[in-house]
Amino acid sequence: SKVKTVNYLERLKRFFPKDVLDLLKDIGQFSEKLGYKSFIIGGVVRDIVLGKQSLDIDIIVEGSAIDLIKRYAKENNLTYHVYPEFMTGNIVFPNGLKLDFATARKEEYDSPGSYPKVEKATLFEDLYRRDFTINTLAIEITYSNFGKLIDYFNGLVDIKEKRIRILHTLSFVEDPIRILRALRFAGRLEFKLEKKTESLLKHAVEKDLLNFAPTGRINLELNLTFKEEKVLDILKLMDKYKVLYKLFGITLDKEKEKLLVKLQDNFLILKEILNTDFPTSSNYLYVLLSNYPQEIVYNLLKKYHFEKEAKYIDEFLSAFKIVKESQNKYTLYRILKSFNKEFLPALMSFLDSNKFKGIIDVLKKEKNPLIKGEDLIELGLKPSPEFKTILEDIFVKYLNDQFKNKEEAVSYIKNKYLKEVK
Ligand code: CTP
Repeated sequence: SKVKTVNYLERLKRFFPKDVLDLLKDIGQFSEKLGYKSFIIGGVVRDIVLGKQSLDIDIIVEGSAIDLIKRYAKENNLTYHVYPEFMTGNIVFPNGLKLDFATARKEEYDSPGSYPKVEKATLFEDLYRRDFTINTLAIEITYSNFGKLIDYFNGLVDIKEKRIRILHTLSFVEDPIRILRALRFAGRLEFKLEKKTESLLKHAVEKDLLNFAPTGRINLELNLTFKEEKVLDILKLMDKYKVLYKLFGITLDKEKEKLLVKLQDNFLILKEILNTDFPTSSNYLYVLLSNYPQEIVYNLLKKYHFEKEAKYIDEFLSAFKIVKESQNKYTLYRILKSFNKEFLPALMSFLDSNKFKGIIDVLKKEKNPLIKGEDLIELGLKPSPEFKTILEDIFVKYLNDQFKNKEEAVSYIKNKYLKEVK
C-alpha cells in the first residue's frame, strides 16, 4: 500500500496546549533513545484533522509499550498502569492528563465479534485491523520525525469527503460491533457511508451478524450512543439501516421521533431546574421501547445487560400510571417525592402539556419554597416539631397557587399560627 505523509508539526502546535505538546515531544525523545518508534493514532488524530477538541490521546509504540511506560514513568516519577497480557498501559501526569499506550499489535479473532488475542506487529498491521479509514491516521512523535502524519489508507481524503469507509470486505464480519460504530460516527460527524461500506453494512445487518456480537459489547456501544450529542441522528440511521429492528424489533415512526425530541428537551429543562445530569441510557431506552408491554421491555433490557434499567422499569411504569391519573399538584408532589427522579426526563416525554407544566411548577416550587424554617423563626415562632406541619401546610397552599408571594404567606402564618401561640 502507498503511504502518504504530511508534515503536521504546525497543526500539532496549534491543536495541543503547550504542556501537552512538550510532553509528547519528551516521550518521543525517550522513545527514540530506547530504539522504539511512537505515534499518536486513532480518534485524536481524526479530531486534529477535523479541528475538533480532544485530549483522548492514544499512543502506539513500535517496540514495547510496557517497557516504555515503565522506564519513562520511573525516570519521571509518574504513576502508571500496565496490562502485559494486552500489551497496553497508561501514564498519569500530575496535571491530570492520562496517556494510553499500546504496543503495535495484530489481533486474532477466534470467532466473529469475540474478544481478540494479541500479537506484536508493525504500525501498518496495527492500523490495518482497525474499523474505518478515518480512524487509521497516525502522527509520529519520535524525535527525528515529530509531527509526521502517516496515512496508509487514504483516511485524509475520506475525512475531507466526509466518508465512513471500512478497510476490507470482512470488517463487519470480523467485528459486527462496527455496524453500530459506523452509524455512530456517521451521525456524530455528519458523514456518509461510502457506497461499498454501505452495502456491506446492509448485508451484515441482513445476515443478522449483530446477533453474533457479545451482548456486553452491544451494551457498551449503546451506552456510548446515548451519550452522543447527535444521538437522534444516530438513532435515525440505526432505524434506516434496520439496526433498531434487529436489536429490539422496533422502528422509529414520527410519533416516536417526537417523543425523543421531547426527551432531549427534558434533559435540558430538568438540568436547569434540578442542577443534575440524568442517566441517558435508561431514559432513551424507556422511550424507545415504550410500545412494548412491561415484560418484553424487561427481557430486552436484560438481554443487553441493562441491569439497572431493567430493575427500575417497574417503578417507572407505576409512577407513570399514577402521574397520569393524578388530579392535582399536591399528588404530583407526593409522587415526585417518592419517585426516582433519574427517569423524569423519559416520564415527562409522555405527558400532556398541563401535566408537564404541573411537574415543572412543583419542581421549581420545591426547590424554592416561599417559606423556610428560618422565616418561621424570624416571625417569632419557636423551633418545634410543629414546624414541619406548618411548612407543609404553606407549601401545599403555595402549590395550589393560594399564595402569590411571600407576603401573602407571611400574613397567613401570622393569622393562623402566631395567634394560636398567643
Ligand atoms: N476500533 C476498531 N473496532 C472496534 C472498536 C475500536 O477498529 N470495534 C479501533 C478504532 O480504529 C478506534 C480505536 O480502536 O480508532 C479506538 O477505539 P475508540 O476509543 O472506541 O475510538 P475513538 O476513535 O477514540 O472514538 P471516540 O472519539 O468515540 O473516543
